[in-house]
Amino acid sequence: MESQEAGQIPYGSSVIRSNAVDVSLPINYKNIAGKTILITGGASGFGAACFQQWANHGANVIIGDVNAQAGTELVARIRKETGNANHHFLSLDVSSWPSQAAFFKQAAKLSPHGGIDHVMANAGITSVPEEGSFQDPPDYATMEDPPAPVHRTLDINLTGVVYTTHLAIAYLSRNPGSRNCSVDEHTAPRDRHLILVSSLAGLSGLPSLPFYATAKHGVVGLFRTLRITGALKSGIRVNMINPYFVETPLLGIDGALVMAGGAMAKIEDVIEATTRLVADQGIIGRALVIGFRGPSSVAKAAGLQPVVADQAIWDVYAHDFEQSDVFVRRIIGVTNLIATARGWVGVISDVGAKLSRPFWKVLGY
Ligand SMILES: NC(=O)c1ccc[n+]([C@@H]2O[C@H](COP(=O)([O-])OP(=O)(O)OC[C@H]3O[C@@H](n4cnc5c(N)ncnc54)[C@H](O)[C@@H]3O)[C@@H](O)[C@H]2O)c1
Repeated sequence: MESQEAGQIPYGSSVIRSNAVDVSLPINYKNIAGKTILITGGASGFGAACFQQWANHGANVIIGDVNAQAGTELVARIRKETGNANHHFLSLDVSSWPSQAAFFKQAAKLSPHGGIDHVMANAGITSVPEEGSFQDPPDYATMEDPPAPVHRTLDINLTGVVYTTHLAIAYLSRNPGSRNCSVDEHTAPRDRHLILVSSLAGLSGLPSLPFYATAKHGVVGLFRTLRITGALKSGIRVNMINPYFVETPLLGIDGALVMAGGAMAKIEDVIEATTRLVADQGIIGRALVIGFRGPSSVAKAAGLQPVVADQAIWDVYAHDFEQSDVFVRRIIGVTNLIATARGWVGVISDVGAKLSRPFWKVLGY
């Protein structure tokens, strides 16, 4: 931990994070058994596939979704297959705070140990019509009372994830019997783990889907902040996945047509990446891209350094964010050097200057 001086912003060496995820290591599936896992949007696609995998390895999985029929049927099937009655479906609309608050409360009550070990903030949509009309607006100048643009994509994929994250911090940090995460503790009966589901569209623009890309960039912003503060403040490990296009109902017919003839990622690799994060409690503050499973010669030709054959899962942070984090650290370094030079005299004079201004000016009005 860094020593804290007057006016300094904590950054850099105070971060608790593990090294890049080594995808050549075997997965310790045993550490999944007995964990209570919440998945938003768990009735379909990635959520349903991860549910199946983790239930097969002994987890108790509680899914929330707007699709009650698919969710109820899935839970009934997996209960039967696993002989475990601790899997549940709960109705959930992630864009509604009361719905999410009730989901977490009920899930903790249903959990065999009264707590939550993992939360996968997964629910998401794409909406071609609202994205299209955003980039093709009507002539507002001629309208008497122009309607506000609709953006369910932001409500679900960003505000919904913010609600899930806030509740996850509240419940994970109070998980009975859990301890602060540590890079040295790879297994334990209890965990405190948040998995954020972003996308490759969270790391680069997606011209046809501006709301989707904005929401997924927002999730990356959450990750980059919480990977610093989650472990420090609440002992929670926060990790993220950034899949490339995968064939699920989310893509719809439009997406499938756009991707026709192109290489896509596979849902099995999304499951593997997410399972690695779940199974190893020493993984803290990492992000994994799930891409096309290409031969090593192709990966190398594209400038990547594969460690397994046909590698699809790549640690993002070590090869991408580190540079910009170093840059940001330098910028903050300038601020901290100035703060050090000014010392407590600077703090007191700034606070004095603020307090001597009218109250509403301090608030920025
Ligand atoms: N499929 C891809 O190519 C891809 C790529 C990168 C990231 N992702 C992300 O992965 C996540 C899962 O997507 P998927 O491909 O499995 O899609 P999917 O459509 O198969 O599953 C999404 C689930 O979310 C549910 N959902 C939608 N709105 C909801 C709401 N308001 N409240 C609760 N549940 C809601 C849906 O009913 C569905 O069950 C999404 O966040 C998506 O953006 C998908």
